[in-house]
Amino acid sequence: MTAFDLDLTRPMLAYASAYLSTGGIPTMTSSWPAAAHAWLQEIRAALARLPQQPDRDAVRDVADELAASALRLDLSATRALTASVADYTHYHRRLVDGAGDGSYSTLLIAWPRSHRTALHDHAGLWGIELVLDGVLEVEEFRRGDAGLRADLVPERTLMLGVGDAAVFDGDAYVHRCTNKSSTRPALSLHIYGGTLDAYHEFVADADGHYAIEPQRARVDARLHT
Ligand SMILES: [Fe+2]
Repeated sequence: MTAFDLDLTRPMLAYASAYLSTGGIPTMTSSWPAAAHAWLQEIRAALARLPQQPDRDAVRDVADELAASALRLDLSATRALTASVADYTHYHRRLVDGAGDGSYSTLLIAWPRSHRTALHDHAGLWGIELVLDGVLEVEEFRRGDAGLRADLVPERTLMLGVGDAAVFDGDAYVHRCTNKSSTRPALSLHIYGGTLDAYHEFVADADGHYAIEPQRARVDARLHT
């Protein structure tokens, strides 16, 4: 066996072992710098102050708190965070935390360079998508129904740099997100008002409507710090 083979086999075995020990979702151990650990504690403290069913103002307030926290991270801590989650080739959703009562969940998402999602909703949950590293474009739409299909009306396009967030809610909210860098992965923090298990993707028809495709949300790993 060559050294190249060994390099690939060891992480795969570790991944398989972690996968089997956590009922299907592997736990990934991080090697974060102290600043990133302190940042995560700030995030947890801000979310702990959320009311159980926050109104739009409360969600915006916590988004501002999280943004301020993201901006306090220095570049080396941010890049270490990104490196711990991103592998440059796969869109990766890592579960960070959830409220004990299920009222919110927190994920880190790593975006390969130039990665673009499908048009999708968030099953009516409120959400905050905060950029920690890189630049994401968020194209926002409002959904109307056309029989069994959907009409999507463009609302606005956001260009989110570090510390910028898209804040949303409601059944009619649909968006598509793109990592605008062709050279680096992006990293974002996502908080949803519940557990996002199922959602919809929207695929354009030839006649300008959109087919509605039910999807199951995938979590690639749980964070262990
Ligand atoms: Fe989304």
